[in-house]
Amino acid sequence: MKTDYDGERDVTNNIDQWLAMPDDACRPSLFSTCRARLSIAGTQDKLPCIARGGRYILPAPGTPTTHIVKPPSPFFPGLPENEAFCLDLASACGLPCAESGLDFRRDGVLFVTKRWDRRSRQDRIERIHQEDMRQVLGLRPESKYQESGDYGGLPAIFEAARRHGIKGPGGTDPAMFLAMAAVFSWLAGNCDAHAGNFAVLHGPEGPQFAPLYDIVCTRVYPNLATELAMTIGGASDAQAVREEDFVQLAGELDLAPECLLAEAHRQKEALRRRLAARPASGMGAEVARFVEERCADVDCWQDPRPRAECTQPFAPPSSVPQR
Ligand SMILES: Nc1ncnc2c1ncn2[C@@H]1O[C@H](COP(=O)(O)OP(=O)(O)OP(=O)(O)O)[C@@H](O)[C@H]1O
Ligand SMILES: [Mg+2]
Repeated sequence: MKTDYDGERDVTNNIDQWLAMPDDACRPSLFSTCRARLSIAGTQDKLPCIARGGRYILPAPGTPTTHIVKPPSPFFPGLPENEAFCLDLASACGLPCAESGLDFRRDGVLFVTKRWDRRSRQDRIERIHQEDMRQVLGLRPESKYQESGDYGGLPAIFEAARRHGIKGPGGTDPAMFLAMAAVFSWLAGNCDAHAGNFAVLHGPEGPQFAPLYDIVCTRVYPNLATELAMTIGGASDAQAVREEDFVQLAGELDLAPECLLAEAHRQKEALRRRLAARPASGMGAEVARFVEERCADVDCWQDPRPRAECTQPFAPPSSVPQR
């Protein structure tokens, strides 16, 4: 492909200028402001790049990017903080998730995530092919919501995983991974866990689900729907989810009900420990208030002893260059 540059290009100043622009809905995307070329799927503005030594670099043509930067949204206040906080909570629950953090710049904050579809080999960064579950299920890119009849939600993803031999991250049980993700998304108030937010990595170990990413507590934005992108058991609205819906989901994923109920209690306790250890402020505090309410719901559920097959030891994420 012909480009107007042949080496790396430092776009840190472009990013800082973008952050300093008046925050209205009409400003250009960060992506176009940086004159980036390789776009990435999804509805939010984002910039694939290399984050190195506090700078943001567009790689030389043909060289892989290692990070994805998501700037603040004019529509959803505190979105970078929200996503970073949710992924931090997921990590505190022992779930495999994209290594991510915040970069506080002078005029705004960026969400920065390391790409899990990269690996380093002999000092080189290599791409690992990824496809999201919309692609695996043969859906249109805009297909998101189970209630619109687009697809069969978590059971359909599980069925596809079984058919194609897709394992959980690190070769773990895919059903338990999907169950753990569903429990966490509900506890975190993330109503947008659609098929496009589950991806498959085609690495040397064979197909495996990518770590969790794009987890946002959508419930803190009152103008967003509370319908779940994928139902949990018989519940299609986040506010209507009950213990029996997780029992139903367990059946749909071929798991014992005890696995899901024990998992909900396990995550609840991990979340409470994390929130008590490091009290949140700002957007984090808003998300925390919501998570505490969900944890209180789980207090009323049966608390079975976890069975051996319900536990899932996840390997630490593979390494990509540090920012
Ligand atoms: N850490 C990561 N490593 C590799 N690929 C990623 C990572 N984070 C996101 N992606 C890829 O980028 C796509 C879009 O990212 P993401 O889902 O976070 O954005 P979004 O715009 O918020 O999406 P949505 O349309 O679901 O709102 C993902 O579907 C995935 O393919
Ligand atoms: Mg997404």
